Amino acid sequence: MSNSKVTDSFDFFKGNSPKELVEKFGSPLYVISEDILRQRCREMKNLVSYPKFIPNYSAKANSNLAFLEIVQSEGLNADAMSPGEIYVELMAGFKPEQIFYISNNVSEEEMLFAIERGITVSVDSVAQLERFGKINKGGKVAIRFNSGVGAGHSAKVVTGGKKTKFAVNPEYIPEVKEILKKYDLKLVGINQHIGSLYMDAKPFLDSVKAVMEIAKQFDDLEFIDFGGGFGIPYEKLNDQPRLDLKKLGESFNAELEQFVKEYGKELTFKIEPGRYISAESSVLLGTVHSIKHNGADKYIGTDIGFNALQRPVMYDSHHDIEVYNDSTEKECVTVVGNICESGDILAKDRELPKAEIGDVIGLLDAGAYGFSMASNYNNRLRPAEVLIRENGEAVLVRKRDSLEDLTRNMISLKDL
Ligand code: LLP
Repeated sequence: MSNSKVTDSFDFFKGNSPKELVEKFGSPLYVISEDILRQRCREMKNLVSYPKFIPNYSAKANSNLAFLEIVQSEGLNADAMSPGEIYVELMAGFKPEQIFYISNNVSEEEMLFAIERGITVSVDSVAQLERFGKINKGGKVAIRFNSGVGAGHSAKVVTGGKKTKFAVNPEYIPEVKEILKKYDLKLVGINQHIGSLYMDAKPFLDSVKAVMEIAKQFDDLEFIDFGGGFGIPYEKLNDQPRLDLKKLGESFNAELEQFVKEYGKELTFKIEPGRYISAESSVLLGTVHSIKHNGADKYIGTDIGFNALQRPVMYDSHHDIEVYNDSTEKECVTVVGNICESGDILAKDRELPKAEIGDVIGLLDAGAYGFSMASNYNNRLRPAEVLIRENGEAVLVRKRDSLEDLTRNMISLKDL
């Protein structure tokens, strides 16, 4: 079908038609490709030739259990941002030593959740280091530093540089050293994350150099974790080029080799890709239920509300859209969801194949921060998730929410 150019080029659906998938599993529906997921894991694993290198998949991008099981089977480690992520990662088969808890403003209880399970914790302020020291004297700890470099597709996701709530600025290194000594803590690693989605290697490589200068001020580290943020092309229909991983990897590798020589010890180096591993692995299918004109605009009304995919509303993010029909006619339309807010817009003034009521559409590159940011707003049910296995079989890996799920944790006054 000419209107499924992008998914066809990946053989995304492997013989399962989007329409049949929706008929069988309901709409809207997240569809995950095991082939693409595995391929992206391998690309990240092979980013550099330095042997002691490991990507920690950043589960916040997509924390579906089956998805994590695949990532684990590809030999990646994982990072976690909450006890909930630790919980599902352990369930997916990651060992405690393969999980890195990157905490931000957490309680002692949350630190203990990781410590008691033998999971390394990164703290991201001097105050949190002190709290960690009090509850885990003599323990191992990592610290998130601000390299001074920030990057990302929106100000909301830039995490390095001057204006950010994250990480410890290097000017506080004397205080850090004092606290490490006071509580007899061993600083095993330092980590950073500059932000999410860059298509050019420069900010990442600049931050790598900056973090290495910070690392040199500490003896006997075991690892440095350089964070995630590796971008993917969301505008495939406009032939947006991919991030040049080969070039990035070669320059990154040269920095790692040079650092090891200067530091005099073969550290483990890590990265934390979330989006790069997960975004392209999934398409969010939905159904057209209404078409109308309001003034000069033509609206395509679908069942994909921003409860199912928040990115366009939250960050003005672009997702390519495929309309799964044979129409050769194109028209400029605004694609909207079914949530009771005017801002519930998936794509504004987009040139798309002419859609009819009942057509199935696909929001591409929906695997990162798609389901993981979905909600029950308007008491809508979060979508089901289906995995297209390597043999082409489509299997359910998450049930659609049920009406009972909506009230599961509520307590009626009648029951008090
Ligand atoms: N490590 C840390 C400490 C992070 O905060 C993040 C993302 C990552 C790794 C993974 O970054 P990635 O490789 O996925 O870019 N909801 C936003 C993105 C938020 C990213 C938050 N931190 C979006 O939909 O674009």
